[in-house]
Amino acid sequence: MSALARLLAQRIRATGPLSIAEFMQEALLHPRYGYYRARDPLGARGDFITAPEVSQIFGELIGLWCADAWDKMGRPERVILAELGPGRGTLMADALRALKAVPAFRRALALHLVESSPVLRRHQAAVLAEASPSWHDSLGGLPEGPLILIANEFLDALPIRQLVRGETSWHERRVALGANGQSFVFALDPAPSPEAALLPPALRAAAPGSLGEIRPAAFTLAATLGERLGHQGGVALFIDYGYFPAACGDTLQALRRHRRHDVLDEPGEADLTAHVDFASVAAAARGAGARVWGPVPQGGFLAALGLAERAAALIARATPAQLAAIESGCRRLLDPEQMGTLFKALALAAPSLAAPAGFVEECIP
Ligand SMILES: C[S@@+](CC[C@H](N)C(=O)[O-])C[C@H]1O[C@@H](n2cnc3c(N)ncnc32)[C@H](O)[C@@H]1O
Repeated sequence: MSALARLLAQRIRATGPLSIAEFMQEALLHPRYGYYRARDPLGARGDFITAPEVSQIFGELIGLWCADAWDKMGRPERVILAELGPGRGTLMADALRALKAVPAFRRALALHLVESSPVLRRHQAAVLAEASPSWHDSLGGLPEGPLILIANEFLDALPIRQLVRGETSWHERRVALGANGQSFVFALDPAPSPEAALLPPALRAAAPGSLGEIRPAAFTLAATLGERLGHQGGVALFIDYGYFPAACGDTLQALRRHRRHDVLDEPGEADLTAHVDFASVAAAARGAGARVWGPVPQGGFLAALGLAERAAALIARATPAQLAAIESGCRRLLDPEQMGTLFKALALAAPSLAAPAGFVEECIP
């Protein structure tokens, strides 16, 4: 057993089975052994690849999306541009490069990054030095004022809890120790779970055997942002893989070196995520005072922002090798079989703001 697995096993022996959220929190963010603490997990040599690492066009279009949002906000003289979980800083570096075309926005923005990983903070410092970013451990650290916030593949890393429907009540699926004391297994809590109150109303009467997921940290984040945007103005863009409307199903997954990994095996060594329930995020933000737009499929969103036009401009001056990379990157972002449909964009906005670029319909979860 790894050092982290031993610590988790000790904790289970002392206090009983853990919620999946507790297991996930430790596996990802344990101060010493957590997955994100000591490694750069992105890219071909890491465990997974994200849209900004697939094509520079992704970050460029999002940068221009931010400039459009700033314009719709009435071009405030000072605006906080924040990113949650910026990874290697690639998205923001591409965005800021594209924003050279909008110098007034560049002058107005102060860059703030919310990042838990010391390794990734160093990457971000290297590629974003020119914009003098400030780092924060959580959303609560951001200064007051009008805000434009972006987050790509951030929500999927927030811990989830799983509940299974019994004959008459919901029961939490927990992580226990196997009979040999050396491995982890799932175990159902025999007591009815009070967390069932957090399930989306549409799922509460699901058939026995159904599994529902809740993500309390995402509810809190969306409600905090919803209230803030309602009072201080601005907009937040979330892009992630997930589902809409609410649905039952086990979406917890682990990835290691680009392959599926057992979710309970070697905690801290594989990325652990679950799909985002966009309806719950939307409902929490709306309930706190924001207007919510989308979700729209990533493919349609990027097409509406001008992906084809930007790709054509890059292709016009590309070498044959670059051309192949640009085309395959765009396909990966747009193709419904790849990232085009499973990934979705959702915007939370101040109620007075006009529809953000790429969105037409409000979300009424
Ligand atoms: C899947 S990566 C996405 C990186 C980047 N947005 C991209 O698209 O390439 C998740 C990012 O969120 C950060 N992260 C995960 N959980 C976090 C938390 N609770 N607080 C702050 N950052 C977190 C990770 O360190 C990493 O930068």
